[in-house]
Amino acid sequence: MAAERLQVSVAGVTGGWINLADAEREGLEKLERGPRDYFAGGAGDEVTLRENVAAWGHWRLRPRVLNDVREVSTRAEVLGKPVGLPVLVAPVAYQRMGHPEGERAMAAGAAAAGTVMCLSTLSTTRPTEVAAAAPEGRRWFQLYAFKDAGVTRALMEEAIEAGFEAVVVTADAPPGGNRERDRRNGFTLPAELGAPSLSAAVGSGKALTIEETFALMNHGLTWADVEGLASECSVPVLVKGILTPEDAGLALEHGAAGVVVSNHGGRQLDRSLATAEALPEIADTVAGRAALLVDGGIRRGIDVATALALGADAVLVGRPALWGLAAGGSAGVARVLELLREELELALGLLGCTGVSQLARGHVRRAPAASVYSL
Ligand SMILES: Cc1cc2nc3c(=O)[nH]c(=O)nc-3n(C[C@H](O)[C@H](O)[C@H](O)COP(=O)(O)O)c2cc1C
Repeated sequence: MAAERLQVSVAGVTGGWINLADAEREGLEKLERGPRDYFAGGAGDEVTLRENVAAWGHWRLRPRVLNDVREVSTRAEVLGKPVGLPVLVAPVAYQRMGHPEGERAMAAGAAAAGTVMCLSTLSTTRPTEVAAAAPEGRRWFQLYAFKDAGVTRALMEEAIEAGFEAVVVTADAPPGGNRERDRRNGFTLPAELGAPSLSAAVGSGKALTIEETFALMNHGLTWADVEGLASECSVPVLVKGILTPEDAGLALEHGAAGVVVSNHGGRQLDRSLATAEALPEIADTVAGRAALLVDGGIRRGIDVATALALGADAVLVGRPALWGLAAGGSAGVARVLELLREELELALGLLGCTGVSQLARGHVRRAPAASVYSL
């Protein structure tokens, strides 16, 4: 595959989308059953998958009025550097299964929207090729540690060398969750796509199931490994998959530059807390001492505004970016992010804010018990 820049042309493909549900419909339609279920599914009974989305709706907004909102900006800072919107692209495995240009298109779409793409260890494209596709973009690298530490180190070094600005250690896997849709479908990554990390770990391009993939990883990681990585690494290290203030505190104690409140999009431990529920107490613990990000179920600009009001610096989106990718390659990704940007900008204005830094706890409160209204 050529290591070259990708052009993002939004013309045509995605013009009709009004919201992310439109992108979802179109993106999922394009996929065969195996990839569609892999991208859309969650663990077990998919309770957490559904609650991630629903839980943002359990917050209500408290708009302030008669502030001058002629100039509203969605610009923000993440790890001390600017982004056009506080919505990043979450690490998602196997993107060439969604679109032939895969991770390269995801990087180009994120760059066009002015935000960061976090590349998965289970990428179907090498980090250097992803960097070359969108040299002006910002990128982070998500890390799964293989049992073979040499594979992990080589991949991480390639990413840092190629300009990836942070390492995000995913702590809520392995083991892999109970993905029943994938087990029913006998899902494997098609052998012709291949993930460079897996080929290096297995020594061949064999098609692997989810269980076989996670069996290659080191199940013995501890906080000491995070501390070791944070002290050796030339870029900031974040820990992803935090759901309790206890673990957020440990992450900071062990040198993390930030945490990502996440339950892996409901794909790991079913019935774990929805991230909108977990966020407030974690924000109280982090208290501005490190970067605080959250993902899971973000589908609207008002979800982003709620997360920021609850204390997050930024959010990440996984599936919405995949829908855009599947429906329209880099243009689809850029359009999904632009829809969120437009919705966030409108939400800010209507909340009486001219910028994201003005969002505060006073802008949200718990919704009345659902039984009060029939929603
Ligand atoms: C198809 C798919 C693959 C994923 N692969 C990874 C991965 O390789 N590494 C990781 O840390 N998280 C992975 N995630 C989790 C995402 O990074 C993120 O936490 C989640 O998608 C957020 O929820 P959302 O999809 O509702 O936005 C994956 C999620 C999906 C949907």
